[in-house]
Amino acid sequence: MIDLIKKLPKAELHLHIEGSLEPELMFKLAKKNKIDIPYKSIEEIKKAYDFSNLQSFLDIYYAGAAVLITKEDFYDMTWAYIKKCVENNIIHTEIFFDPQTHTKRGISFETVILGIKQALDDAKEKYGITSHIIMCFLRHLSQEDAFKTFEEALVFKNIIKGIGLDSSEIGHPPSKFKDVFKKAKEEGFEIVAHAGEEADVSYIYEALDLLEVKRIDHGVQAINSKELLKRLKEEQIPLTVCPNSNIELKVFNSYKEHNIKKLLDYNLLVTVNSDDPAYFKGYLNQNYINLVDNLELTDEDIIQLVKNSFKASFISDELKEKYL
Ligand code: HPA
Ligand code: ZN
Repeated sequence: MIDLIKKLPKAELHLHIEGSLEPELMFKLAKKNKIDIPYKSIEEIKKAYDFSNLQSFLDIYYAGAAVLITKEDFYDMTWAYIKKCVENNIIHTEIFFDPQTHTKRGISFETVILGIKQALDDAKEKYGITSHIIMCFLRHLSQEDAFKTFEEALVFKNIIKGIGLDSSEIGHPPSKFKDVFKKAKEEGFEIVAHAGEEADVSYIYEALDLLEVKRIDHGVQAINSKELLKRLKEEQIPLTVCPNSNIELKVFNSYKEHNIKKLLDYNLLVTVNSDDPAYFKGYLNQNYINLVDNLELTDEDIIQLVKNSFKASFISDELKEKYL
């Protein structure tokens, strides 16, 4: 089964590029850019990755991102992830980036997005890996701040496929960003949002009804509402589930308690993704492997999950037909 996982060409739909920054590169960039980080060694960084919930992770994750200064830094981080795509047989990836994490530190929007984009262009050229960029608003900041970021993003409209919502979930429901997402939709962006990772199903309903999302990122709390499960199934709304992340952030106590098999058996369009692989102990294949090691997944389940990753992607219908 592990062979099957490794052999199948896959798509990844929930990957924060800042979450692919490995401790080794973080340490190297901190030295190069003379940025103080609260760790004396790579081992110390790794030791700090012990989380109790989403917020405890985010605090460390935003601190780590502070080492990224130049366009080359963003290129190097993205290129390192592309190498992992090759290793994991990911042939299409849709990556999130959080511009506000960087513009708040005085790094220009252009530096961030052009560094990422150059690496993605090179990935297509060198390995044939296709990709889309999804810009996320940080939900712990205001809608006004999101609007400012949105205005900056419009200059790069041709290289941004979608708009998403991430960061601290509880207390920052999708409704807080209703107006900016309406504008994003009018401008033709694909809409997604993190919802139902830690917060209850009302956040998923708001993402669907107020933001009109095409996919729900995480969404595992949907299990708590029969009515919502029925809707997600009928409308075949994709859930981009991130098993390792859910375990590391204590959404579930163990892999055996993870609900992805239940969601799949209920015929929801669920996908497997790595979220922040440098922080959550492994890239995409490792997420699949941890699932088969702990849940009663069949070969057919794995094939279905991989098919779903293409079905739920924003690639053209033509390409989808080729991949499915
Ligand atoms: N949830 C919310 N925000 C995030 C995550 C996540 O899993 N990863 C990076 N930013
Ligand atoms: Zn995420």
